[in-house]
Amino acid sequence: MYDARPIGIFDSGVGGLTVLDALVRRFPNESFIYLGDTARVPYGTKSARTVERYVIQVADCLLHRGVKGLVVACNTASALGLSALHAHCQTPVLGVIEPGCRAAATLITKRADSGRVGVIGTRSTVASGAYPYHLALLNPRIHVVSLACPLFVPLAEEGWVDHPAVRMIVEETLAPLMDQRLDALILGCTHYPVLKSVIAEVMGPEIALVDSSSAMAEELGRYLGGVIVPAPPDQEQQLEFLVTDVADRFKEMAARFIEGVAGEWVKMVDL
Ligand code: DGL
Repeated sequence: MYDARPIGIFDSGVGGLTVLDALVRRFPNESFIYLGDTARVPYGTKSARTVERYVIQVADCLLHRGVKGLVVACNTASALGLSALHAHCQTPVLGVIEPGCRAAATLITKRADSGRVGVIGTRSTVASGAYPYHLALLNPRIHVVSLACPLFVPLAEEGWVDHPAVRMIVEETLAPLMDQRLDALILGCTHYPVLKSVIAEVMGPEIALVDSSSAMAEELGRYLGGVIVPAPPDQEQQLEFLVTDVADRFKEMAARFIEGVAGEWVKMVDL
């Protein structure tokens, strides 16, 4: 039994393309519809009430297009809106927080039975406490240090990766983590994989970086063949991109996050 329908994946904007990139490579026969809520980005400064309302509207838009599962690529949307989505949808919904926590907990457990994990994300993700909560469920002996890094999102969107100023901002922002004796650092935001090499240089080789995009690919692998029925093995992958505002800006930024986004695939939608 196969299911040819696409999988819906969404983010507040363009950053979730880091997750989509991992999924399209890992599942070359699955089709995806990506929705970036570019009219309302950022979610990372907004309240739980507002983010819950947004994610329900985004999910409904994708469900009306007949997706067989929903991937919430946005960490803020997963942290603040996942329970509301589970209550709202019959379709399987995968958030990005639990896979990231599982990857970090597995890393830690390989080294010792307790450990110290840093979590960086938007202000709203950090304020939600979602990462410490899920890490504690997996291993209560893990000590978690969380830090909001609000400047990293605009840097990644503007493509400021190699600029010397980026190194300074990353060093300054991550300074509170430097004396925390961390074993691993979770990149708890869609945009941070774009800055991964600078973050790795600043944190040093001893600290393992956990990237939500590869963790989400593992998670979807567990769901496909379980609650989500996989596409036929010989299906040709189709990708569709929806945005809620200014498609041209999305296309320009998308090139920094994923290879080969063809312009004609990007369409505007109203939620
Ligand atoms: N996608 C958001 C996240 O992963 C970052 C951008 C935003 O604040 O909306 O938390």
